[in-house]
Amino acid sequence: MSPQSLHLRLVGGRGDAGQPLDRIDPIAVIEVDHLLKFELCDVLERLADGLPHETIKSQAEVAVTVLRQGLPDHIVLEERYLFPLLKKRNNGDARVRSVLEQLEHEHDHDEAFSFEIAEELERLADDGRASNAEMLGYMLRGYFVSLRRHIKWENATVLPLARQMLTAADLDELREGIMERSRRHAGRLSGIHSL
Ligand SMILES: [Fe+2]
Ligand SMILES: [Fe+2]
Repeated sequence: MSPQSLHLRLVGGRGDAGQPLDRIDPIAVIEVDHLLKFELCDVLERLADGLPHETIKSQAEVAVTVLRQGLPDHIVLEERYLFPLLKKRNNGDARVRSVLEQLEHEHDHDEAFSFEIAEELERLADDGRASNAEMLGYMLRGYFVSLRRHIKWENATVLPLARQMLTAADLDELREGIMERSRRHAGRLSGIHSL
């Protein structure tokens, strides 16, 4: 899969059933995002398994794109839209607040680490070998294990809660966040094409 087609799948102009974005189920979009993050974890695992000698350049490039753009975009969608809506609907519930705070803390960690890993993978794609394969393998494994755990936890707790608690107006707001992400993404692609 090319970085650009993965971009399109991450953001999309339409939903799975071909609906325009303004009518799509916004929680289903987050579920699809999560499936794509699991795919990213599988790619990172294959890259780690291939070290130090076997590098799949195209997979390293796809991973770099997702780590630099798809992942931060997903975190923005959750922290700017989904989590505040859930906090508002669960006002006063300390358990919900503490789960969301823990997930935000993990986002900070994942985001910082994802840029470091992207840099290493870029070097790997360019040179065909890692500057320190043992260290990169260790970084990759730590990263995909914790990202898989994070997504499984969100799927088991946050998304069912969102299905249960969010109102139609909340879903509209979340949908607006998805459309805003899509516009930002389209702007990036047009920037790439005008280079
Ligand atoms: Fe998250
Ligand atoms: Fe997520």
